[in-house]
Amino acid sequence: MTKEKMEKILHNLADARRLASKIAGRVKSGQVFAFYGDLGAGKTTLIQQIALKLGVEEPVTSPTFVIQKKYATNKGFDLIHIDCYRFHNAVEAQDIGLFELMNPSNVCFVEWADKIEPLLPKDTVRIFLAYLSETDRKVRIEGLDV
Ligand SMILES: Nc1ncnc2c1ncn2[C@@H]1O[C@H](COP(=O)(O)OP(=O)(O)O)[C@@H](O)[C@H]1O
Ligand SMILES: [Mg+2]
Repeated sequence: MTKEKMEKILHNLADARRLASKIAGRVKSGQVFAFYGDLGAGKTTLIQQIALKLGVEEPVTSPTFVIQKKYATNKGFDLIHIDCYRFHNAVEAQDIGLFELMNPSNVCFVEWADKIEPLLPKDTVRIFLAYLSETDRKVRIEGLDV
């Protein structure tokens, strides 16, 4: 397994869309994508854009209150969008069956992944987002060749 790393600035939503398109082209069934970054960093936005490229037709909304939501893609796997914001620790996440969602027939996109760090599989793709200005975001990707 390669441990690729990349870092770049997204200057606008079109940049984010282009990156989403590249990521979507690399997504494989069974993968877990962990998203890190403060509120407003762009985690949900990027996930929405990747979901569009994977053929998700339903609007992808922030799952903060429902914790996890499942979407059908046109790639032969389901996309599970998980928001760990409300968890205090990994044990709470285990209680809602988060571990079972990470299986070969799903792709999991996890926001606030730092809350469940010990549960993340070894080959998790990590995407770090940081707010720079109203339009600019810094993104760092580890574990995926994009
Ligand atoms: N370059 C950019 N990349 C991503 N989001 C951006 C960018 N520029 C502005 N935004 C805006 O920033 C906000 C990010 O919100 P959101 O994706 O909900 O963040 P998070 O899920 O990390 O809390 C959205 O309103 C989005 O339109
Ligand atoms: Mg969000």
